[in-house]
Amino acid sequence: MCKQVVLSGIRPSGGLHIGNLLGAVNNMVALMESGKYRCYFFIADLHAGTTAPDFKRIRMNTYSLLAEMLAIGLDPGRCTLFRQSDVPELYQLYTFFCYVTSVSELQRNPVYKEQLNQLKLNGNGLSIFLNYPVLQAADICLYRANLIPVGQDQIPHIELTREIAKRFNAFSENSLFPIPEALLTETPKVPGTDGKKMSKSYGNFIAVADSEKVTKSKIASMVTDINRPRLRDKGHPDDCPVFTLHQFISPSEDVSVIRSQCEEALIGCKNDCKPALAEAINLALKEPRAKRAELMNHPDRLDAVLMKGVAEARKVAKETIEKVRKTLNLSI
Ligand code: TRP
Ligand code: SF4
Repeated sequence: MCKQVVLSGIRPSGGLHIGNLLGAVNNMVALMESGKYRCYFFIADLHAGTTAPDFKRIRMNTYSLLAEMLAIGLDPGRCTLFRQSDVPELYQLYTFFCYVTSVSELQRNPVYKEQLNQLKLNGNGLSIFLNYPVLQAADICLYRANLIPVGQDQIPHIELTREIAKRFNAFSENSLFPIPEALLTETPKVPGTDGKKMSKSYGNFIAVADSEKVTKSKIASMVTDINRPRLRDKGHPDDCPVFTLHQFISPSEDVSVIRSQCEEALIGCKNDCKPALAEAINLALKEPRAKRAELMNHPDRLDAVLMKGVAEARKVAKETIEKVRKTLNLSI
């Protein structure tokens, strides 16, 4: 029995923050470590360019993201790690997929509609921006992936991928593509420094790339329980984002002590609870940060990872394209 293929991509739109780690990235590491799947994880640089094709900046972000993915525990010996744009077969499959996708179904995509509103493109969006899910479908089908670990927000894209795979399969007697399924990642609600969901776009994140000092000052600036204005007031840890982060990061013995001491007004937010959180985060990120810095000083090692990855990825990609072209009567 062949192993199921797991595939997922991360856009290199800046470094990883602890929200990413506790959600998608740790999950990727777990899938890899389970040994149950053939895993493909890639850096979606082409997708990062769909709003603005600044590939020079995206290239730099790609290297730091790769360094962080490796630092967090993705191992090129146990999964295929590659950069999306390095696989020329992808552009072919993308083109073929444009032949089975209608403009109106892309315009109906809720993710597209929401982004269109947010970005205020006034009808000037790039066609690749509209075609974002077609490219994503090509990512998935090129490696004949079965399971796609993604968050809830990506479901419409996986739905369209399934649709495209089915339309393509109808061209041939033997199915070309497995119909992929989303492997819904439990994305825990990790609060950012302002108490809202931690997100790149809100600027409320604590990044792997942050120094210990920056981490401390970001934590110092966090909002706490608004009903605890003074030290002598009893706190409500369940209404406090600092406490929520403690729950994600600090050892559980410490978390229960913090809870009771906060509720009894025995510790202060500024002098006790926040410094303890900053320390716990800095401890958890110590090794990944050191590893990241080391890799960033050795871009040759990052290139070697990309080269190994693209060779593995292209092996499968070429087989797929070969079959697809035959099916479409486009091979020599
Ligand atoms: N669209 C995904 C995101 O924004 C990234 C992505 C691109 C992806 N291609 C993919 C995810 C293929 C899963 C499978 O997060
Ligand atoms: Fe929040 Fe900690 Fe202050 Fe309690 S002591 S309100 S948990 S920061």
